[in-house]
Amino acid sequence: MRCAVFFCLLIGGWINYGSGVDPTNFKTCEQSSFCRRSRKVQSSGSKYSLISGTLNTYSDSVTADLLNKENHHQFTFKLEALVGGTFRLQIDEKTPLRPRYRVEHALKAQPKTVTIRVQESDGELTVTSGHSKAVIHGDPFRIDFYENDVHVVSVNAKNWLYFEHLRQKTQEQALPDSGEQQQNVEVLETLDEPGSWEENFKSHHDSKPYGPEAVALDFSFPAAEVLFGIPEHADSFALKSTSGTDPYRLYNLDVFEYIVDSKMALYGSVPVLYGHGPQRTAGVYWQNAAETWVDIYTAETNVVSSLVNFVSGSRKSTPPAAHFISESGIVDAFIMLGPQPMDVFQQYTALTGTHDLPQLFSLAYHQSRWNYNDERDVTTVSAKYDEFNMPMDTMWLDIEYTDGKRYFTWDKFKFPEPLTMIKNLTELGRHLVVIIDPHIKRDNSYFFHSDCTEKGYYVKTREGNDYEGWCWPGSASYPDFFNPVVRDYYASQYHLSKFKTVTEDVMIWNDMNEPSVFNGPEITAPKDLIHYGNWEHRDVHNLYGHMHLMGTFDGLQKRDPNQRPFILTRAHFAGSQRYAAIWTGDNLADWSHLQHSIKMCLTEAVAGFSFCGADVGGFFGNPDSELLERWYQTGAFLPFFRAHAHIDTKRREPWLFPERTRLIIRSALLKRYSYLPLWYTSFYELEQTGAPVIRPLLAHYPQDKEAFAIDSQLLVQQRLLVRPVMQQGVSKVDVYFPAIDDKKNGDYWYDVDTYQRQERTGSESIPVTEYKIPVWQRGGSIVPKKERLRRSSALMLNDPYTLVICLDRQGKADGTLYLDDEKSYAYRDGQYIYVNYEFANNQLTNRFIGKPKYKSDAWIERIVIAGLNRVPSSATITVNGVAQQLEVEQRDAAVYIRKPSIKMDVDFALKLNY
Ligand SMILES: *[C@@H]1O[C@H](CO)[C@@H](O)[C@H](O)[C@H]1NC(C)=O
Repeated sequence: MRCAVFFCLLIGGWINYGSGVDPTNFKTCEQSSFCRRSRKVQSSGSKYSLISGTLNTYSDSVTADLLNKENHHQFTFKLEALVGGTFRLQIDEKTPLRPRYRVEHALKAQPKTVTIRVQESDGELTVTSGHSKAVIHGDPFRIDFYENDVHVVSVNAKNWLYFEHLRQKTQEQALPDSGEQQQNVEVLETLDEPGSWEENFKSHHDSKPYGPEAVALDFSFPAAEVLFGIPEHADSFALKSTSGTDPYRLYNLDVFEYIVDSKMALYGSVPVLYGHGPQRTAGVYWQNAAETWVDIYTAETNVVSSLVNFVSGSRKSTPPAAHFISESGIVDAFIMLGPQPMDVFQQYTALTGTHDLPQLFSLAYHQSRWNYNDERDVTTVSAKYDEFNMPMDTMWLDIEYTDGKRYFTWDKFKFPEPLTMIKNLTELGRHLVVIIDPHIKRDNSYFFHSDCTEKGYYVKTREGNDYEGWCWPGSASYPDFFNPVVRDYYASQYHLSKFKTVTEDVMIWNDMNEPSVFNGPEITAPKDLIHYGNWEHRDVHNLYGHMHLMGTFDGLQKRDPNQRPFILTRAHFAGSQRYAAIWTGDNLADWSHLQHSIKMCLTEAVAGFSFCGADVGGFFGNPDSELLERWYQTGAFLPFFRAHAHIDTKRREPWLFPERTRLIIRSALLKRYSYLPLWYTSFYELEQTGAPVIRPLLAHYPQDKEAFAIDSQLLVQQRLLVRPVMQQGVSKVDVYFPAIDDKKNGDYWYDVDTYQRQERTGSESIPVTEYKIPVWQRGGSIVPKKERLRRSSALMLNDPYTLVICLDRQGKADGTLYLDDEKSYAYRDGQYIYVNYEFANNQLTNRFIGKPKYKSDAWIERIVIAGLNRVPSSATITVNGVAQQLEVEQRDAAVYIRKPSIKMDVDFALKLNY
């Protein structure tokens, strides 16, 4: 949620929705001294070289000393080969004045290394492992990375490596004598630079006791034509050039009414970036949790230079490149060599992990609002969904359910009987999610505050006092989740012996965890606060939310070890996907924000966060009927599907709108529920393989240049193509059907409502009604569905399945289905059914992946086949050698086989007869 200024309670009366964020509340690169200093190197270049004779070769890595030839400071350099076509590059000071921060907890585990071969010739060092190769140049320092001999990434090709070594503050000291002057020239230069040793922004002072300590490095992508990644920004999927603008910023911030088409920082920071071209995709994960800016050089900025090259006879233009600039820490970069988009996405999740298989209910529809006022309100809203025959799985409670914003407590007047209320929901197969934020009300009678005060659990000021900021409860302090003892304390609060007024089925929403501090610099914590291990907040800022999530996740797992936790978070960093789903924060009821929900979630999905959604309807403002309808239709095809709204907006539950709107929304909800088996299977496969659930077109059509930048469409796995209507008042939308090769061959696509087949590639204008969600199923795929209407997903557990088979040009298709108890960890002990269905030669067969151990009462009630050349006269189903004849019916452009009545765990063959 949010309004970011602490007089937020006043705004209801006068706020002008849509006026947007005030950008002057947030720093520009020019106002951030390390960004300004590091960016300067772009005009002059830097001078680093490896020191000859310092090279050490190990079985999986090489190390050497690196010299800054201008100030003679020395660094250590290490290049390590990791499994699966990834290299890790680390640069740190050789003898820093104090240790520099290294990110912890982002990687899912210590990455496994692999054996390398090393060859030296002509001052170049070639490090080879499998198909991957790194060629290290000593002077000037540079590394070129090759995948199967194709040059895909260069490090420091632009000579923008910039590493501010830690130094003593010599300002007050006497000037050094002439003998030492040489050595101190650079020190004095930096001291001259305003902002190096202290910095002001608005009324805030940053004391910067350790002085300048930025690190920066450039990465070029010679095989790429488009760069993407580095969420979270409200911007296009393809990154834009930053020439003439600020760089993209990564700094977790609570941004009020954020603006779209912007490079401003938002709530999450995931420093992974990909370069993609028709032949190769590669990526870089810049592991740094400090404030980071990323400059982007794309082909478009190179128009002039390529023209010059063209005229001078050289067609080779400068490749797209990214310049990462971080305020502190070390250089710790993972170079992932692909070669294809899905390879590189999986290389990234191999490092940072994936979301575990979520409980099925969390993939269904969520109903939230700031706030459902009291128990009666919750009960009524839930009952209305039943009255209007609309499915709904989860009710959410925002901050007002608490006793005065004291988390782990309830407002006793509005919610006198929370356990009864929860039981009422549970009996309907529904869930409750409650918010728990990290700011702790400074109230001596609040147990959490007194515990943290007594035990010293809060983040400290540089003077060693508990830091006090301002947030929802008024004066608040912030637990230092970096301290494992604090995380344990926090996790234990979720235990039902402590948090007695919830049940093990109540799940958690962690908001405001950037952290949001209404009266702090840029609405967050000051950088000179001190965390566990004596690290400054500056070093760890982008990880604060991540550490909060680790505590919550641990707490929920310990509360009920056999139930998979569901957590929603706003702040996130690389690896947070292991603990929580995300949403795109405080958006606006506006068509452009609807459009950005897909752009933003696609970028998050390739950065590990498949479990992404946006507030349906828009958080701020009041959507009209049409916008709300289209938003439900879009939200129904994003992984996390939740309606939510600001406290000052008009109530907008679907029945408060005219009947037509309610029916359109109902139709979108039913569509979502019908595809739950596909979503669930996709999330199982995400856990198994790291492959994103939703994907940009380029994931599967890497050679189609026209598809590279398309971000109004998404793929659900490789099975559905979704292009929601996201413009006002339109009767048709342009849809791009991607090509597989440069001859413009493509897949068949079948409209999921009519089974009409699309055979051509390229852009098509598709007519739409107000009910229409333009979705196609790929020819060659099989999609499992459930088509019976229930009030919640829990009641669908044993409902029968429909298999929708869409044939490719060869008359073939295949697709998987995964099922289990939808809730527990028993699947980790093999209690599941995972099956691949295959259609070929007019016959459908199944093949179990692993032994089908889970006992399911579900069955297959319907098979739909689209794309047959002729209508069969009948079908024969054979199970355990017993054959049975089935009727076949043609409807629209598909053939239906009813009641094959196949149990989920048996082998069968279903043959079409002519
Ligand atoms: C629980 O449900 C009963 C029956 O519908 C209702 O009378 C009661 O008010 C509900 N209680 C709460 C606390 O929601």
